[in-house]
Amino acid sequence: MNSQIDVAEGAAATRPTEIEFSGIEKRFETAEGTVHALQDINLSFARGEFIVLLGPSGCGKTTLLRIAAGLLRPSNGRVLIGGRDLWQNDQRDNKAVQELGVVFQEANLMPWYNIEQNIALPLKLRGASKQDRLQRAHELCKLVGISGFERRWPRELSGGMRQRAAIARALSYDPEILLMDEPFGALDAMTRDQMNIEIQRIWMQSERTVLFVTHSISEAVFLADRIILLSPRPGRVHSITDVSFERPRDMRLQTTLEFQSIVRDLREELEEMG
Ligand SMILES: Nc1ncnc2c1ncn2[C@@H]1O[C@H](COP(=O)(O)OP(=O)(O)OP(=O)(O)O)[C@@H](O)[C@H]1O
Ligand SMILES: [Mg+2]
Repeated sequence: MNSQIDVAEGAAATRPTEIEFSGIEKRFETAEGTVHALQDINLSFARGEFIVLLGPSGCGKTTLLRIAAGLLRPSNGRVLIGGRDLWQNDQRDNKAVQELGVVFQEANLMPWYNIEQNIALPLKLRGASKQDRLQRAHELCKLVGISGFERRWPRELSGGMRQRAAIARALSYDPEILLMDEPFGALDAMTRDQMNIEIQRIWMQSERTVLFVTHSISEAVFLADRIILLSPRPGRVHSITDVSFERPRDMRLQTTLEFQSIVRDLREELEEMG
């Protein structure tokens, strides 16, 4: 088992730090008492890294992602995005938040907007002109592989296509960091494999830092540069696994012994945690 590390290793060491969690602690006060969700999380991720958070249900993955997104405030500790403190004197740093694009398990598209309007919505909120918005939506549809569906309604798209649109929307304003919480959890196995190939392609092309949450060990090993395994509640960093397969990776990788051995080791670690 690796201990927590606070410096990026290997090739990532030469790149600037993009996300840093320092002494993160999260407690929720509920009617039934305090829920201790996260304890002493110290991690730092370099620009351009693909990081996967893995761990048992309820260990705090979503909580940590929401903390990174500035949607939740940690009870203790600091979050730095591109070197900026996300919280300063009780105020969220909205400049830092602009570096973040978020994708959740459900695409959450607006049903009364068509696909290009949905994708361009963040740009509209930022005051971009209509022409710029439509052009950007068009480029993004191409990037995520839904060209030709710009004028369709969300309900006319499959689940996988709606997720692509949600990814395009998150990329619309050029955030440095993509935060994704089980974005493919609701998809069937084949669409999920396809989306894993696609997200790798988009990531390689757009050079973003990705923090990706999943339940699936094989999805984690397929996608990640590094896998952060969290322990059961309160979530702590249980281990960090470097995954150094060449890119682009394709699905045949999953049949190799090396791939299966990393999956097996992680599964054993998860089982040991109970
Ligand atoms: N707003 C909240 N109020 C109270 N408790 C919360 C809140 N959000 C999360 N929790 C609790 O914090 C713990 C961690 O929840 P979280 O959703 O982060 O887990 P998770 O690892 O994402 O789980 P899953 O894999 O099932 O999505 C859980 O015990 C959950 O009940
Ligand atoms: Mg979750």
